[in-house]
Amino acid sequence: MAVSQQVFLRDAMRRLNLTRDIFAARIGVKRRALDTWLLPEASQEFRGMPEVVQRFVTEIVENELLLAKYAQSAQSGPLRDRIATNGKHQLLSVEQFTRESVEELFSVADIMQPIARRQKVSRVLEGAVLGNLFFEASTRTRVSFGAAFCRLGGSVCDTTGFTFSSMAKGESIYDTSRVMSGYVDAMVIRHPEQGSVAEFARATNIPVVNGGDGAGEHPSQALLDLYTILTEFSRLGKLLDGAHIAVTGDLKYGRTVHSLVKLLALYRGLKFTLISPPGLEMPAEIIEQIARQGKHVIEQYHSLEEGLKDADVIYATRVQKERFSDEQLEGYTADFQVSKEVVDRCCAPDAIVLHPLPRDSREGAHDLSTDLNHDPRLGIFRQADNGIPVRMAIFAVLLGVENLVQHSMRDVTWSPPSHIGPEDAVFHGMY
Ligand code: NCD
Repeated sequence: MAVSQQVFLRDAMRRLNLTRDIFAARIGVKRRALDTWLLPEASQEFRGMPEVVQRFVTEIVENELLLAKYAQSAQSGPLRDRIATNGKHQLLSVEQFTRESVEELFSVADIMQPIARRQKVSRVLEGAVLGNLFFEASTRTRVSFGAAFCRLGGSVCDTTGFTFSSMAKGESIYDTSRVMSGYVDAMVIRHPEQGSVAEFARATNIPVVNGGDGAGEHPSQALLDLYTILTEFSRLGKLLDGAHIAVTGDLKYGRTVHSLVKLLALYRGLKFTLISPPGLEMPAEIIEQIARQGKHVIEQYHSLEEGLKDADVIYATRVQKERFSDEQLEGYTADFQVSKEVVDRCCAPDAIVLHPLPRDSREGAHDLSTDLNHDPRLGIFRQADNGIPVRMAIFAVLLGVENLVQHSMRDVTWSPPSHIGPEDAVFHGMY
């Protein structure tokens, strides 16, 4: 097998769109056996999958692919050509993806997991340089893009803020972008104006990734959010099709939710409940774009309690005060805070709580309470950790090296901790 058995099985389940229980039944094995095959190799309970199972699963997947090929025009060519925008290998919006291409990207992210978990190293991007241009505040997006590039063997040059860049001297986006392209092999750009990253992208032929353009989009965040939802659902034995997704907070200026709802809409039969304080509702054009597809239910609320009822995913966000023009925040009361008490009251025990972070811990902010910190339903740190494999996959695909990664891996020389966070939840043999 060219890939590890975990990557192989996860990919098969995703392609067949089956829960673990149904997949185990489909291939005629006990769910418990399947769980042990999906564990990391270092785990004591890990078991090798028999070769006959591997052959059987390959056969089922190949049959399924053949059927899919007849059903729709065959997907062909490298992934980066299929997600290209304006003929360039750049990532500006989630609208560049189909359900098939997003799941293909996630198979690449699965391959990256042993590197992200510091069991393996790779140098497929040795010699390549990333320009990380952040003209707006950032911690995790800037560092995780940088770390992802470094973990593939590349190196990173950073600039942060306007003050220390030549833009403070009146330089145009075109000039900055063209000049940077002479120095680096890819750029990640965050900028406070909507549409600005697309302007950077027009001035260059090197890969550009949108790290957040004002209230516009944040595609890499939405990709890691969706990857997290699918991974958590796999552990919980749930499918995304038909799920109830509650999105709360600042839906007007929150670019993460703009990208996320568009990406989730690639799935089937979702119920979206959009919960915001009055005045911070999701832009009408995004709601219309999803409604036009005619396959989802969309409901809008100004009350957390009503909108959260029976949600499978609660995605909380911070109020983006830095983007306010003349908005008043009169209706943003403590009732908007996602707390353990409200999650217990409104949702089933297998709900998951996500947040792109940072959460606002200051007086008067009500996005996500810390009383869920020890609760396994809180997925925020697993979600942030997933930023690494997903951003590695984005770089590998845009630079066309995704097929080299598997064979380039070597064991790490140092010993990382088995659990990164002291309070990380352990899921009793499930990953
Ligand atoms: C978000 C952003 O910058 O849009 N953060 C992030 O990238 N994880 C969310 C926010 O700032 O509230």
